[in-house]
Amino acid sequence: MSDQKVDSERRSLILATTAAGGVAVAAAAVPFVASLAPSERAKAAGAPVEADISQLKAGEKMVVKWRGKPVWILRRTKEMLESLAALKDSLADPDSEKPQQPEYATNPQRARPNPNPETSADGGDYLVVIGICTHLGCSPSDKPAEGNWQGGFLCPCHGSQFDLAGRVFKQQPAPTNLEVPPYKFLSATRILIGDDSGSSGEA
Ligand code: FES
Repeated sequence: MSDQKVDSERRSLILATTAAGGVAVAAAAVPFVASLAPSERAKAAGAPVEADISQLKAGEKMVVKWRGKPVWILRRTKEMLESLAALKDSLADPDSEKPQQPEYATNPQRARPNPNPETSADGGDYLVVIGICTHLGCSPSDKPAEGNWQGGFLCPCHGSQFDLAGRVFKQQPAPTNLEVPPYKFLSATRILIGDDSGSSGEA
């Protein structure tokens, strides 16, 4: 079971707001929750890690460490999800057709349905991606919405930009979208990172 702890010094939030005439996504710094579940020995062996998402509010991102890598879990707002469709022509692989993620991530949200009754109807609210740039492995930062930018992530090393589904824009150094790891919902409030066996995507 998870031994959850909150790292209050590492917090981030991506908020979406709707503006007249279109969707504008504003971002502000807020919660970033670190979840470290199994024993050190199990983690070293690459054991799945369980994340408690019960405290994650819409617009917030938490980070779970799995196999030594940061896995982001972003609970997207309705506005965030709606903003994704408009970006299609600007993205290198908008439908995630490159074979770099589980099949359940090959949809516009790059997410599998979740059983949280408070989430939006399409259920793809939770983005789960490895927070490592697919160019040379730097760690992208949250890039708040500003002007025509709808919010997403920016790699500080060579400038690759990703949208709120972890999809890379065209003509960026990063060759592919951020990787979606195997995962499954254990319940409406718990996600298992690193194991999707026996799950249909409906949890
Ligand atoms: S490592 Fe991210 S753009 Fe180069």
